Amino acid sequence: MEMDYENRVVSTEYLPEDEGDNPLRPRTLNEYIGQTKVKENLSIYIDAAKIRGEALDHVLLYGPPGLGKTTLSQIIAAEMGVNIRITSGPALERPGDLAALLTNLDPGDVLFIDEIHRLSRTVEEILYPAMEDFAIDIINGKGQGAASIHLPLPRFTLIGATTRAGQLSAPLRDRFGVVLRLELYTPEELGLIVSRSAKILNIPCDRDGALEIASRARGTPRIANRLLKRVRDFAQVMSEGVITVDTARRALDRMEVDELGLDMVDRRMLEAMIRHYNGGPVGLDTVAAVIGEEAVTIEDVYEPYLMQLGFLSRTPRGRVVLPAAYEHLGIDYTGQLTL
Ligand code: ADE
Repeated sequence: MEMDYENRVVSTEYLPEDEGDNPLRPRTLNEYIGQTKVKENLSIYIDAAKIRGEALDHVLLYGPPGLGKTTLSQIIAAEMGVNIRITSGPALERPGDLAALLTNLDPGDVLFIDEIHRLSRTVEEILYPAMEDFAIDIINGKGQGAASIHLPLPRFTLIGATTRAGQLSAPLRDRFGVVLRLELYTPEELGLIVSRSAKILNIPCDRDGALEIASRARGTPRIANRLLKRVRDFAQVMSEGVITVDTARRALDRMEVDELGLDMVDRRMLEAMIRHYNGGPVGLDTVAAVIGEEAVTIEDVYEPYLMQLGFLSRTPRGRVVLPAAYEHLGIDYTGQLTL
């Protein structure tokens, strides 16, 4: 059976409803809930740069999708009082695309490159001198008439975001002065985010209702906010629009998102590994083939949360399903753990 991860209600992909002028996005570090360590350090770096009257050092944000890397970049720009230009690795097809962005920056501006691990070689190569020397060299014309033009750039801040810091080339990684790792949120933090979002959207939602949604949102604000909107639909039809723990539970059960936030795809993946491979070790490519997903999707989207739950472990010989997952799925654990 085809499993379409893009359409999962627990997908961490951007959906159109996530885009545009999203009223749920926090605008300041103070409004931003969770990621305490990241926030504390960032606020020092921002204050220090402002005191010196300089641009902030280049920042690399990494961690699973949906945790607020773009949001955090917009906040950094706002706190620094500068403009932000947003692009992504795949969108920058040719060196000229990047050059056009860079040469239009004002001093101190932020250039945000999402999925920076997907930059092409040629684009990455003009990024090095841009980051380090604040200049780029552009070759104009071809053959005999070709001339290299040296273009100085304003001092700017590059913010790169990636789900996989390990995939960045060492020269690129080394050019970031600040490297920050975003973690999955706790249910309590997500509960605060759901309550805040409900207030902004005028959805009556009590604390336990918010916590119920939060505990099924896989540590990810983007999922929590999406579940909130879907639960509101159920609440409007079933209980006069009020989200209580009871309506939240019933709605999420109907969506087949279980008490821990696992959906059919997660459960099928774990069950297939248990039933066909005795719980592992199973190679990543085998898991990918079994559930019809790309290996990178499994690594970036499915595994971080399953690992946080203690359901899955990555070993040198492959993926291993852990006893807690058997218990959650109601399957007797008989195997020997060979980690
Ligand atoms: N919405 C999405 N992420 C958020 C966060 N970290 N804090 C507050 N609201 C959010």
